[in-house]
This record gives sequence, C-alpha cells and structure tokens, in this order.
Amino acid sequence: MTGSPLGAAVEQDGAMTVATASGLTTSEIVYRVNDLEVRYGGEPAVTDLTLDIAPREITAIIGPSGSGKSTFLRCLNRMNDLVSGAEVVGRVEYHGHDLYAPEVDAVEVRRRIGMVFQQPNPFPKSIYDNVAFGPRLRERRPAGLADRVEAALTRAALWDEVKDKLKSNALSLSGGQQQRLCIARALAVEPDVILMDEPASALDPIATARIEDLMAELKRDYTIVIVTHNMQQAARVSDRTAFLTTDVSPGGGRVGRLVEFDSTDVIFTAPSDARTEGYITGRYG
Ligand SMILES: Nc1ncnc2c1ncn2[C@@H]1O[C@H](COP(=O)(O)OP(=O)(O)OP(=O)(O)O)[C@@H](O)[C@H]1O
Ligand SMILES: [Mg+2]
Repeated sequence: MTGSPLGAAVEQDGAMTVATASGLTTSEIVYRVNDLEVRYGGEPAVTDLTLDIAPREITAIIGPSGSGKSTFLRCLNRMNDLVSGAEVVGRVEYHGHDLYAPEVDAVEVRRRIGMVFQQPNPFPKSIYDNVAFGPRLRERRPAGLADRVEAALTRAALWDEVKDKLKSNALSLSGGQQQRLCIARALAVEPDVILMDEPASALDPIATARIEDLMAELKRDYTIVIVTHNMQQAARVSDRTAFLTTDVSPGGGRVGRLVEFDSTDVIFTAPSDARTEGYITGRYG
C-alpha cells in the first residue's frame, strides 16, 4: 500500500464518514496530505505524497538523506513558506481545513505547530524566558504565566532539573536539557501537534533515551511527527512509519517519493515493498 489513507470510506447513518484502521473518523484525523509536491527553484524535491496523520500517535518519517523528510515535515507547519524558492503544491488538510488556504495566517500556524530540530536551538535568554516566549508573543498579558512555564517544563521532564535556576541562561544547559527545553517551549503554546526533525541525533544515548521516554509520555495528549535516521528509534517509538526514498530520473534529477506507509510493526516486520525491506535491513540508503 502506498500512502493509502487510514481506512476505507463507509456509509454510516446516511452520511459519508471514514472508518479508519484505528477506528477514527475523518474529522479526527489531524493531517490529510494529498498529492503533495514541494519544489525548490521549480525542481521537484519530493512528490506524490499522500498520507494521513492520526491523533495521539507518533508517526515516523524515515528514508535516505535527500529523500525529502525535512521538506515534508516543514509542509506541516508552513515552514517552507520561509524558504526562498520553495513552492508547495497539493493539499495539506489540518483538522479538515486547507492549511494553505489564503485566509490561513501562516505565522499563527507556525506558532501553533511547534517544531523541534536536530540541534537544540534555545534562545540566548533565561530558561524561563524561553518557555514564556510563545505565550508572550501570542497574548498581551499571558495569565498565570509562571504556572504555565512550570507546567510545560514538567511535561517536558525538565522541571526538577531547572526549577532552582529558571533565571539562568538556557545555553548553560546540557544538549539533552536544551532539547527538552525546546520541547517545553513548543508545549507552552498548547499545540496539538509537535514536529520533530531528528530531535535526538545530536545527543548521547542517555539523553536520547530520555527524549524517547518523553515522546511516549507526550503522545497521550499530542500528535507527534518525527523524522529520524535511527531505525531502531523509529521502531521503538512510533505507531506508524512512512518510508521515503529518492528516485533518480534518466536525466539525473532526484526526487523523493513515499514508498510505503503503514503501522510500524508492518514496516519493520513485513513491508510490502522490496525497497522498504532493503532500507530497513541496511541494504541501501
Ligand atoms: N532550501 C532548499 N533549497 C533548495 N533545495 C533544497 C532546500 N532544502 C532541501 N532541498 C533539496 O530537497 C531535497 C530534499 O531535502 P531534505 O532536506 O528535505 O531531505 P532529507 O530527507 O531531510 O535529508 P537528510 O536526511 O539529509 O536531512 C534535497 O535534494 C535537497 O537538496
Ligand atoms: Mg532532513
């Protein structure tokens, strides 16, 4: 199955709903991505992406370097709008609304749907001010800010380590702590989705394990989409996995495509495409 939706359409009470593999209806699906292509300078970098993202699950995006994983992730919060020469074609629905409709405020989208990157990127401000940043930007006088900062740091499993030094510069934290701070910063605006682009690849194994534990905790309340190069990590943490690869055209052009999207169990134990199997068993990529 190539990027098939989460389920098949069925008639229910006379109205069209969509029953899904996880028992969801279409209105519950967080993202419906349909026939998405992203071009840089007019050249397609990734094409033909169709997949759904289910709520309160971790969806992993895996595939070789250059297959368009980061490019795809940036479509989900309109970060590609900020990349000069980037053009997004196709449809991304977020909770049933066209994310690219003219009336949608892309700045607000990026504020609402946080992204965590490979290199932790706290602002050179205090720990407190990092987490308070989003609420302060969104609200003129954020009510109960100190409590919200504490709540976000607690959710990000960092509170105990920083509660006595909230005024310290965030850059004085370790890499793993900085990454959890970036997650806290994303959580402080009460998003329902968190996008993570290789969030643990710059961290040591212990800090990585903490991030993975944290993700498992967060998915009770949040939808997480993670790009990872680490296949064990995808297998450990995710519910569904999308495998992208790079096709080389006769003219030498390279374009990323979705090969297979399925439950993580299926992808890692019984993939239906030989390219997926080759990749996960390390034969190429
Ligand atoms: N800002 C950009 N301008 C031009 N081309 C870009 C830009 N960003 C990405 N590309 C191109 O798009 C393709 C996909 O890149 P992308 O970074 O999405 O891949 P990736 O799967 O995330 O790779 P990696 O695993 O190395 O991070 C590549 O060919 C890349 O060169
Ligand atoms: Mg990338």
